[in-house]
This record gives sequence, C-alpha cells and structure tokens, in this order.
Amino acid sequence: MKTRPDPCHVVIFGASGDLTRRKLVPALHTLSCEGLLPRGTKVLGIARSSLTDAGFRKRTYEGVESYARLKPDVCNLWPNFKNNISYMAGVYDDPETYGRLKERLDRPVNYLFYLATPPGLYPVIIEQLGKAGFGKNGLKDKDSGWRRVIIEKPFGHDLQSAKKLNDKIHEYFDEHQIYRIDHYLGKETVQNILTLRFANAIFEPLWNRNYVDHVQITVGEKVGVEHRGGYYDKAGVLRDMFQNHLVQLLALIAMEPPSVYEADAMRDEKVKVLQALRPEVRSVQAQYYGYRKEKGINPDSTTPTYAALELFVDNWRWRGVPFYLRSGKKLAAKVTEIAIQFKKVPHLMFPVPGGGDITPNILSLCIQPDEGIHLKFQTKKPGAGMATRSVDMEFHYAQDFGDNVLPEAYERLLLDAMQGDASLFARADGIELAWAVIDPVIKEWNKDSGLNPVFYEPGTWGPEEADVLLNGGSRSWLHDCAGH
Ligand code: BG6
Repeated sequence: MKTRPDPCHVVIFGASGDLTRRKLVPALHTLSCEGLLPRGTKVLGIARSSLTDAGFRKRTYEGVESYARLKPDVCNLWPNFKNNISYMAGVYDDPETYGRLKERLDRPVNYLFYLATPPGLYPVIIEQLGKAGFGKNGLKDKDSGWRRVIIEKPFGHDLQSAKKLNDKIHEYFDEHQIYRIDHYLGKETVQNILTLRFANAIFEPLWNRNYVDHVQITVGEKVGVEHRGGYYDKAGVLRDMFQNHLVQLLALIAMEPPSVYEADAMRDEKVKVLQALRPEVRSVQAQYYGYRKEKGINPDSTTPTYAALELFVDNWRWRGVPFYLRSGKKLAAKVTEIAIQFKKVPHLMFPVPGGGDITPNILSLCIQPDEGIHLKFQTKKPGAGMATRSVDMEFHYAQDFGDNVLPEAYERLLLDAMQGDASLFARADGIELAWAVIDPVIKEWNKDSGLNPVFYEPGTWGPEEADVLLNGGSRSWLHDCAGH
C-alpha cells in the first residue's frame, strides 16, 4: 500500500446505513491500525436519524468488531480512534444542514464527502454541497485544501439518468473532484490483472486474437437478494453487476497498456475498449425459482437475477474473440473468476485416448474467494506411450503472502481517494459508455422475454440456455478456480 495522505474530514452522508457500519468505518479503522491514516483524520456521519455521538460510535464499533479486517483486539486503537468520530443529524435537502456542516468542519481543511445514501438523493446532496461552497467554486486559494466526493453505485438507472447525474455533478464540481466507486476495482486481485499483464513479458505476446480462443468472466453468488428486495427488483442483475463490475473486469482484460499508472492514462485506455464494444449483444437472462416469493419482490416480477452475455471488442487486438460474461444470485458457488482460453495447437502428433480432443491451455485468474492464478497445460502421462493429461500450475496468495494480508476493497479505495488517485474510479465517459452497452440489453429483455422469463434452480449454474450461448455448446463454462 501507499504512503499516508494529508489529514482530512471524511464526511459520510447516509451514515446510519449498512455501508457505513459494515464497510466504511471498518476500512478506516484498519487503515488507521496499519498506520496509513494520518493523525487528525476525522469522521463525521450525517443522516436523518437523531443519534448522539456516543450512539453513533457504539453502532460503528459493532461494525468494526464484526467486519474490520484488523479488529479492535488486534491493534488496540479504538479508544483513540473513536474520539475522531462524530455524528450530525440533518435533512439532506435543507441548506441549514450544510450551514451547520460548515461550522463543524474546522481543521483539517481537506474534505472527503462520501455519498452512501439511496441514489435518489445524490443530486440533492451534490447541489446543496455546491451551493454551500464545497464545490469547484468554493476554493478561494490553494491553502484552503481539497474537496472530493465519492459516489456509491448505482450511478444512474440507465444511460439517460447517468448522463443527467453527470451533468448535475459537473454544474457544481470538476471531474477531478469526483470519485465514482466500483468496489471490484478496489479488490487486490483485480488490480493484479494489471500486474500480471504489464509486469510480465510472457503473457502479453499471447494476449490477442491470434492465440486467445475466448474469454470468460464469471461472478457467481450463492446468496439471493437477502434484505435488498426493494432495490434489487427495480435493478436486476444487469444494472446491479454488469454495468459496473463485469464491464470493468472486461475493460482491464482487454485494454492496451497505458504508459504510466495514472488515473487518466488508465481510464483513457479503458474507455477505448468500451468504445470498441460491438452494440449487438447476445444474451440469456433468467430468474431463480422462488425469487418472486422473497421479501420486497413483486409476485409477478420478471426481473432477471442471472444473465450471460456474449460481447465482442471490435479492434485489432480482439476482433472475433468472444467475451462471455455471466453473473447471478443463488448459483452453485460464490466465485469470481476470469478465464482466458487459448486456441488449440494447430496439429497434434500425440494419440488422444478415445480419439477425443485435448484440453486447451487455460489461464484462470481467481479473483475470489481463493485468490490466485491457475494455468492449465498438457503433460505426458508417466509410463509407456505418449498419452497426455491436463494439469494445473497454481499460485495462491495465501501460500505466498500469508493469511489476512489482502486489503478490503474499501480500504484501498478510501485511501486512494484521500491521496487524490482516481485510477481505480470510473470517469464520467466510462460510466456512460458502460450504460450504452447494457441499456439496450435490458430494454430488449423487457420487450421480448420479460413477459415470459426463463427460470433456473437455486444452487445450480443457471439455465441451460446459457450453455447454448457458448457457440452452440462446443465451448463450455469453465470452473477452474478452487472450491468446485
Ligand atoms: C454489489 C451488488 O455491488 O456487489 C450486490 O450490489 C453483490 O448485489 C455484491 O452481492 C457482490 O460483491 P462481492 O464483493 O461480495 O463480490
């Protein structure tokens, strides 16, 4: 990880919600334990509920105890840490709230605003912050510190609403002040895609249409919609997972190497991939049996909880190579995995028992839960003859680096935002391009199949239709990461 940023006020809107308790304060606590938060950093929670500072601290302590990577008993920091946490009740659309906020924010003079409220409130909060002088026009001189805003997903509901939100933001803030969060980009193993590709010489020459047969990106979840039925039934899997996480993973796999690791250089390359995505997308969408009976779900809902897409990146590197993306709730396992399947050898001189085919080389990036990298290749089976067998060469983070060393995504992203590094955050154009791909797929589903959804059994890998999507069945979905 990096060096310590300047001290700042972290102001969390939506502070009585789950995200603050489960992710944000635990991440700040762990950063502090690791000595990465500078002395004097303060956390101010804002929400509508009336809570005392002590009440808010108690709530956040429970979160830190349950969810922090480094818990209070490991680093013994809480008694001091808690003194820097405070709370202010406020109504988000009332200028009076922001007047009081100004009075509360004395030193340090750097402010990181975190929008963790329901997304419908983002425009109001942005506008009020801007009008109260916290936006681009609020900085009178260079000594008055920085102001940055982190915005949680979902960023818009479709392309049009995302554009509208971007316009609203740009009325009051400059783009460089905005950090649109995608927690997948904060995952260590996701960042390792860049290291694997651009710090090694052996993969990149093969990383193109001449050697790659296809790419698969799987984000499977075992859980259903849990307590988020109200949100999820309106969103569905394409808005919840594809528009952000899966598209970002695709961009990291497909992008050209930037010349420096720097926010705009990185995001320029990702944007070029999104611009090259072919608008025609084949898709399968489905809903798990029992979804309609879950809390907060419309009993006639046609919202998909699973989707598989076939995408093409129409550029010199990738022309003709399908990228298969799939994600769903209530699947057989919790796993995020990216598989690069290479082409077969042009001619095989060895006999294959039974006359079949040999398994091609597959490089699997295991993003979670057993973080690592696997490479499948052929070896000679010991003994007489020349029979071959596919074996796996594996790297596991835990083996090489030890347990509990992988930072939580929010630790990394909060620290980056404090340091002014937006490399792992989405830019306005990137968000809109991702919507431009996903929006038509959602609309097509609503038009054609939404009235007659496909269903799948919980605990499986989704509907059979998804197998057919893979080139009529000659390719198959891969499960090469641990846990299968
Ligand atoms: C969130 C989605 O962005 O990502 C959730 O809203 C999903 O529905 C979650 O469960 C998955 O994240 P992770 O880090 O557990 O893979």
